[in-house]
Amino acid sequence: MIFEQKEITLKNGKTAIFKTPDVEDAPKMLDYIKTACGETHFLLRYPEEWDSVTVEQEEKWVESSRNAPNNLTISCYIDGKVVGNCALTFLSGLKMSHRATVAIAIIREYWGLGIGSAMFREMIAAAQEHGTEILELEYIEGNDRARALYERFGFRVVGERPNAFKLKDGTLLKEFFMQKQMK
Ligand SMILES: CC(C)(COP(=O)(O)OP(=O)(O)OC[C@H]1O[C@@H](n2cnc3c(N)ncnc32)[C@H](O)[C@@H]1OP(=O)(O)O)[C@@H](O)C(=O)NCCC(=O)NCCS
Repeated sequence: MIFEQKEITLKNGKTAIFKTPDVEDAPKMLDYIKTACGETHFLLRYPEEWDSVTVEQEEKWVESSRNAPNNLTISCYIDGKVVGNCALTFLSGLKMSHRATVAIAIIREYWGLGIGSAMFREMIAAAQEHGTEILELEYIEGNDRARALYERFGFRVVGERPNAFKLKDGTLLKEFFMQKQMK
């Protein structure tokens, strides 16, 4: 799916562009995700786990997400750089198509400017338009900033998975599941 390009004004007065990444933005997407993964242990991978992903593979991923009928990817561009990304994925099948999942990550330098909130407004609007009944996400224990954002948009914790993440130093962290009832 393609998100129609939109300009948003950030809390610092700067302008950001929200759009689905273009295939030629694949190198920028790789730079962004490696940076984001190096700044927090709350994301799925360590940055070096992206080293084996080539630009060609990333281009294929961008192309497939643009064409996927069940996925809406929105990236945030500031001064031509990708500084954040979010994805809304609609589940399929008769038993699960009432649900959709969301995921988000923004580069630290751009936290607190309202990008996360603006992305959630867009994903919730798209889910509403699609007829989604339940929006879901996961976050890792200690990610209070993310949890606060999710609660502000009506998500509530519905479950947890102990020992979901094992960090390099051996620390084990819980994963929390949240849902937002859309109707
Ligand atoms: C979580 C994340 C998406 C938030 O994005 P953001 O652009 O900083 O969010 P916003 O600026 O829209 O809003 C952040 C809000 O949280 C508040 N906040 C910040 N730290 C907080 C904390 N520790 N506890 C409670 N609220 C907090 C801010 O004051 C702000 O609220 P306000 O809009 O009322 O002022 C971003 O920090 C991020 O990408 N983190 C790293 C990756 C990650 O953890 N992704 C989620 C994985 S589940």
